[in-house]
Amino acid sequence: FHDPASISTGRLPREELVAQLMQDAYDRYAGVDDGAVADYIPALAAADPALFGLSIVSVTGASHSVGDALHEFSIQSVSKAFVFALVCDALGPEAVLRQVGVNNTGLPFNSVMALELNGGSPMNPLVNAGALATTSLVPGATAQDKWTFVQTGLSAFAGRPLSLDDDVYASEAAHNRRNQAIARLLESYGRIAHDPLETTDVYTRQCSLLVSATDLAVMGATLADGGVNPVTGERVVDPSVCRYVLAALATSGLYERSGEWLFSIGLPGKSGVSGGIVTVAPGKGSLSTFSPRLDAAGNSVRGGLATRYLSGALGLNLF
Ligand code: DON
Repeated sequence: FHDPASISTGRLPREELVAQLMQDAYDRYAGVDDGAVADYIPALAAADPALFGLSIVSVTGASHSVGDALHEFSIQSVSKAFVFALVCDALGPEAVLRQVGVNNTGLPFNSVMALELNGGSPMNPLVNAGALATTSLVPGATAQDKWTFVQTGLSAFAGRPLSLDDDVYASEAAHNRRNQAIARLLESYGRIAHDPLETTDVYTRQCSLLVSATDLAVMGATLADGGVNPVTGERVVDPSVCRYVLAALATSGLYERSGEWLFSIGLPGKSGVSGGIVTVAPGKGSLSTFSPRLDAAGNSVRGGLATRYLSGALGLNLF
């Protein structure tokens, strides 16, 4: 990308240029139909594969959206980044580093083998094992207390009350034996801090919270803004937490494709199997995408293409 805007300026380009480049990204990739909608959670298989939305929110609170940016979908694994942030904020990053870790597994997000190969360490908070371990550390004596903490905290990131997609929750709860098994395996290694089945249930709920691409961009912009939600003005987490979360996203946010993502896009991001991706440009803002067709690693195909284009064109690449 040789557009002059591709030189990093320390802030997002002026709004008209952002609007024009987002429309360009939408037009370029709207016709791409590679990849497939996730179907291992039955309710996700019903998603309309044509949906495509892009949203940018700046640390000033300014926002711009294109396409289906207000369409709501279950947040899925994108929640892992924000629950990790809340737990780091509550317990301190050292405790989470010790109990969960921050290294890439190099294996798929739901790998059991990754746990076995690493002596029971979940390795990082962005794969299912590490997310379950992280959710088990959420403050609260009971599963209900933990769930209230998670729902309240993610809503503060989004700047509005987030509600559960009851169908997705019921569907995933009926098909989450693998996550229950991972939680039990963590228990056998002494790596889970709460009852494994209750923890899996809280985790399943957190994955079933409804968000739009615009919500994800507000959530990401809160991390870009040092923990203050730029739309509501509320401080959600400590500034230091954002640095740790963004470092973990850079290593593992796109699973075993995190290296390729950082190489071509140069920004921390987090994907989910319903098709959302949140990408954070520290100090500038967040770009989020929604498109349900996924590649083999579980990352949205059009989301990755649009993010790569916009990272270059908007001058967001950190390197
Ligand atoms: O636990 C699961 O399998 C889903 N609730 C979330 C997985 C996910 O989003 C991974 N994304 N690529």
